[in-house]
Amino acid sequence: MSKWPKQVTIKEVGPRDGLQNEKAFIETKDKIAWINQLSQTGLTYIEITSFVHPKWIPQLADAAEVAAKIKKVQGVTYAALVPNLKGLEGALAANVDEVSVFMSASETHNRKNINKSIAETFPVLQEVVIQAKKAGKTVRGYISTVFGCPYEGSIDVEQAIKVADKLFEMGIDELSLGDTIGVANPRQVQEVLEEFFKRFPKEKLAMHFHNTRGTALANVLASLEMGITTFDSALGGLGGCPYAPGASGNLATDDLLYMLDGMGIETGVQMEQLAKSAFFIQEKIGRKLNSHYLQTLNKSECQLS
Ligand code: HMG
Ligand code: MG
Repeated sequence: MSKWPKQVTIKEVGPRDGLQNEKAFIETKDKIAWINQLSQTGLTYIEITSFVHPKWIPQLADAAEVAAKIKKVQGVTYAALVPNLKGLEGALAANVDEVSVFMSASETHNRKNINKSIAETFPVLQEVVIQAKKAGKTVRGYISTVFGCPYEGSIDVEQAIKVADKLFEMGIDELSLGDTIGVANPRQVQEVLEEFFKRFPKEKLAMHFHNTRGTALANVLASLEMGITTFDSALGGLGGCPYAPGASGNLATDDLLYMLDGMGIETGVQMEQLAKSAFFIQEKIGRKLNSHYLQTLNKSECQLS
């Protein structure tokens, strides 16, 4: 029997994690057009925006309009990030399918990112999960800085497990483990996962790698070997967290797909459509996206007709 899974789910976080770090405002209509294109690629999950304070993330100040105006496709889950009840209010008004709550394994990053200590964050997220569930939504949790923090350096896996325990107790449906600043290596990934598997079912865990130091795909491979089958990525390698210095570049969806396609692992995502939508957003951003796969394509062959 192959050690590789037959199938993997790719969760596209480009419209949220990818764009949140972009300084120049991308027009709302272009975000909507991009998400509509992504919906035609075979992706089954798109994180479309976040309902956070617009002063903190100006790029996503148009969350309500984006969420309301996209053309939803059956079979695709449209998710949004929310930090508190105020954010949830917006997400529910816009009728997103799933909400994602987020916090960090490290105290300093948590405070810089959401202006609260870890202990102060739990009751806030607990209330979000309760209200989201009441409204019939599924809830995803994120833990940032699991593999290292830009302020505190290395993070004890027990710290991340404590946060994970609390989030699962709250009732989240899935937990995504974030290498926010792209410092993880494959050995560390497997060691962290070994500890997580002692406490949580692997089916409820997803990995969220940033490619800041070029190790994201290696970390995916290490996770696949451990039986993880859900990965977050952003098309073209867009992205980063404004409250984590150096957190550039999510794992690129196109690079991930190229590798999985080549390995015969099914995702349901079509490369040609995906590449077209990458060139669309590249043009709107006005700079070359830095993923590897895109560099191999002749742009003119992939122009949207
Ligand atoms: P705060 O200033 O502590 O908020 O910010 P507050 O509760 O004290 O309220 C202050 C004001 O903000 C009030 O307005 C609230 O109504 C308003 P006023 O009464 O002064 O007029 N407010 C809001 N407005 C809009 N939307 C809201 C909201 N909440 C309060 N949701 C807060 C706390 C959490 C809001 C702020 O820190 C924030 O928005 N942070 C977001 C940071 C962020 O989005 N970071 C990036 C995402 S995380 C990430 O990228 C990592 C990840 O990808 C995984 C990985 O890579 O590891 C997920
Ligand atoms: Mg991220």
